[in-house]
Amino acid sequence: MITGRALTVAFAFVPAIAIALAAQAPQPSAAPTAKPEEGIAITDATVQKACGTCHRPDDKGQMSRISFQRNTPEGWQTQIQRMASLNGLSIEPATARQVVKYLSDHLGLAPEEAKPAAWEAERRLIDFTYAASADAEGTCNKCHSLGRVISQRRTRTEWDLLIAMHRGWYPLVDNQVFRRSGPPPRDAAATDGRPPDNRHPIEKALDHLAKTFPLKTPEWTAWSANMRSARLEGTWTLSGWEPGKGAIYGRVVVTADPANPDEFTTSSTYRSARSGETITRTGRAIVYTGFQWRGRSSASGPDSTLREVMLVDRDWRSMEGRWFTGGYDELGVDVKLERVGAETRVLGTDRTALRRGATGQEIRIYGANLGTSLRPSDVDLGRGITVARVVSTAADVATVAVDVAKDAAVGARDLFVAGSSRSKALAIYDRIDTIKVKPDWAMARVGGDTFPKMLAQFEAWGYSNGADGKPDSPDDIELGLVDAAWSMEEYAATYHDDDIKFVGVLNEATGRFTPNGDGPNLARSGQRNNIGDVWVVAKVAGDAVDGKPAATLRARAHLLVTVPLYMRFEPMGGR
Ligand code: HEC
Ligand code: HEC
Repeated sequence: MITGRALTVAFAFVPAIAIALAAQAPQPSAAPTAKPEEGIAITDATVQKACGTCHRPDDKGQMSRISFQRNTPEGWQTQIQRMASLNGLSIEPATARQVVKYLSDHLGLAPEEAKPAAWEAERRLIDFTYAASADAEGTCNKCHSLGRVISQRRTRTEWDLLIAMHRGWYPLVDNQVFRRSGPPPRDAAATDGRPPDNRHPIEKALDHLAKTFPLKTPEWTAWSANMRSARLEGTWTLSGWEPGKGAIYGRVVVTADPANPDEFTTSSTYRSARSGETITRTGRAIVYTGFQWRGRSSASGPDSTLREVMLVDRDWRSMEGRWFTGGYDELGVDVKLERVGAETRVLGTDRTALRRGATGQEIRIYGANLGTSLRPSDVDLGRGITVARVVSTAADVATVAVDVAKDAAVGARDLFVAGSSRSKALAIYDRIDTIKVKPDWAMARVGGDTFPKMLAQFEAWGYSNGADGKPDSPDDIELGLVDAAWSMEEYAATYHDDDIKFVGVLNEATGRFTPNGDGPNLARSGQRNNIGDVWVVAKVAGDAVDGKPAATLRARAHLLVTVPLYMRFEPMGGR
């Protein structure tokens, strides 16, 4: 029986853990007479050889434990890392890569299953609420992200064994989280006459996970039948957002590897729309399960390597995701690639707002196949905006000069170029009334001595009040990023707060915060080293209107500069 064999494996290799398991593991809920759950046969000789000494295949080719769960590539990779660090697996990196590839392709996720958990692989720091089960949320996100949980599929027995694994390796988990060392909480909701559900949250969570994330799903059955190598070679437009710098536009050329249908090399060129800075990168990528792009690319210059995590659309016409780096994967760009055909495509503009009455304004339009013979009449921004002339034009970028009438209607405008369009490409406004700092709070971590630093990036956004003249109302007109002067102010949390002297440096021009070192700082009282919290303040010169002088606009965000993440239950970056 699968369960028996798996536990024997654990017993044989780790006696101390076996005791913990025997004492605490719940009985798998399937009755002993129940038919064993079916797994997925593993036919690959590399996997059989690398894992089979401990995970013996049965007569159907099902390997204990492994055949009974499905994972993202990252999920399989961490499993193998754990086998190596805790269970005595010894494996060559090249073999491990082959195992990850086979398992991700044959015991992977379908696109519909991977999408809701994409943020986990994309290493996004988000506030995630798992509405489907408060028990699973409360029990399973105490140490690591719930993304790790919802990006797996398992049989009921495997979900039970996962909990047994937690109890075995981390014996305090029962008291601290799973059972909270007391009786189960009362089921207050049982007012309708049904017997109250007084099980422990862990038991309810397990029930939920086994029902919601089973090994066999219609999505996986359908996808694994339809799955094939995605033919991604060709030219793609790239549009994206780099926090702090704004939109990026360019192109990526994907070249197939003749030796391997799932491997590609890339070369990309893109511009930061606002600054015009050009970046070129080259890289390599592997596509798992027919749709999960995992790549790595670098530009010239130090620390320029980015990991690329994207989901390829089913039609092979677009892919979307995040390219990232940083000690905590905190620096990254959101990207979307779309296949370039023969048609003109407008991606966006360098400027995202134009003031009413302004003349001779140059706008750079980024796109593909914009043509070299663009005429003013090919460019349309709606009533009140006259395209006076085309300043320059090339396939990927065109510069046009426009005049905005004094009485042009304020609001977002769609941009049409030779039959292609971009909705809400830029806004017409009369004055900038308010600014906001995004995000409105952020966390950074001191580092650099022993642990990496976690940086924080802020942006200043401009707004016009719109027709009602009031800020923060639905008719506000968003003007895009504005150049701000950045500074820090004390966030009064303690008496004689002096945090701004210690926490680190906020770049005055770019809004990027770099924390100070994590080592002891003897210059500071109270053994507080360099941690603290501060206001991050943006200041922007407003517009002079109707003879009234320009006022300085101000906005702020809360920045918490805290200690390094000493215990990481997360797969580390830079693998
Ligand atoms: C030297 C013995 C050994 C080898 C080789 C080994 N494992 Fe394991 N594996 C174990 C033990 C012991 C357990 C049970 C304890 C645990 O989960 O850590 C286990 C459990 C597992 C589990 C279940 C963990 C969970 O999620 O609950 C998976 C999956 C797994 N191994 C995958 C692999 C893969 C893939 C390979 C081959 C690359 C491999 N193992 C090679 C010893 C081994
Ligand atoms: C006490 C802290 C803690 C709690 C609470 C916790 N985990 Fe974990 N979990 C860990 C650690 C530590 C690892 C192993 C890290 C590694 O190997 O990368 C892990 C690994 C995992 C993995 C990936 C490893 C594998 O074998 O596939 C999954 C899935 C997982 N936990 C699910 C859960 C679920 C479901 C719950 C709630 C029922 C939960 N965790 C609650 C600490 C915790």
